[in-house]
Amino acid sequence: MTNSTRAPSNILIFDSGIGGLSIADEVTQALPQHPIVYIADNRLYPYGRQSDDALLARAKTLFPALERHYQPAVIIIACNSASTLILDEVRAITRSPVIGVVPAIKPAADITQTGQIGLLATKGTISRKYTLDLISEFASLHEITKIGSDVLVSQAERKLHGYAIEEMLIEQELAPIIGNTAIDTVILGCTHFPLIKQEIQNALGNKIHLIDSGEAIARRAAHILSTSNQQLPLNSPLPAHTFIFTAENNQVTKLAPALHTRGFFTIEIGNH
Ligand code: DGL
Repeated sequence: MTNSTRAPSNILIFDSGIGGLSIADEVTQALPQHPIVYIADNRLYPYGRQSDDALLARAKTLFPALERHYQPAVIIIACNSASTLILDEVRAITRSPVIGVVPAIKPAADITQTGQIGLLATKGTISRKYTLDLISEFASLHEITKIGSDVLVSQAERKLHGYAIEEMLIEQELAPIIGNTAIDTVILGCTHFPLIKQEIQNALGNKIHLIDSGEAIARRAAHILSTSNQQLPLNSPLPAHTFIFTAENNQVTKLAPALHTRGFFTIEIGNH
């Protein structure tokens, strides 16, 4: 792997798999002139099933190495399962500004009419102290139905790899929300889920308001870049994005079309 020549305008987007592409989509809308270096830590995928110790240990070695190598203008931890655990640690061991993606509890609490909210996330995220603290801070008067789901994560992976979505599985997974007609707002608390937003909406029905953090994260990145004078002019040449897996992956050709349509033409296996 070669050192980036585009520093410091790189935006580093990190996830366990392809979920962070939902954040990359928002970032490319807001900052189309900035190159993205995307790290998919498939070595430890799925993060939702890893122990806290394993994720913390991984963060301690990985993030300083990524920062040295890619010299990002901003790091986005585009993974709720990671951010709700490692955000403070990553901020302490890196110098770049770090944005964490966490479940949009406050926006959901602000818009619900019934006070009944669904939270879709990984098993890790729904039980983390960070998430529970967000709920007590912003939604203590509301009732939250939490679903921790690996199935939805793997359905999103399937979709972007060009495989058919299993709608029955999605419906089964969402049964506790489908069965509670008072729920009017559902938080997509895993970055994989906006990639199957339509399928989730189909299962829940059109009356349910789905909320995710993507747009707010892209706005935050734009704000950080503009206040640090690192925002590239809008008329800069179209950037080339890079997608890096941390371990061998025999599914790369399946995923390539979804990456190409998003401007990721360099796809590498890094030795991180
Ligand atoms: N996309 C990740 C998140 O936002 C996690 C998926 C996984 O690896 O379990 O939580």
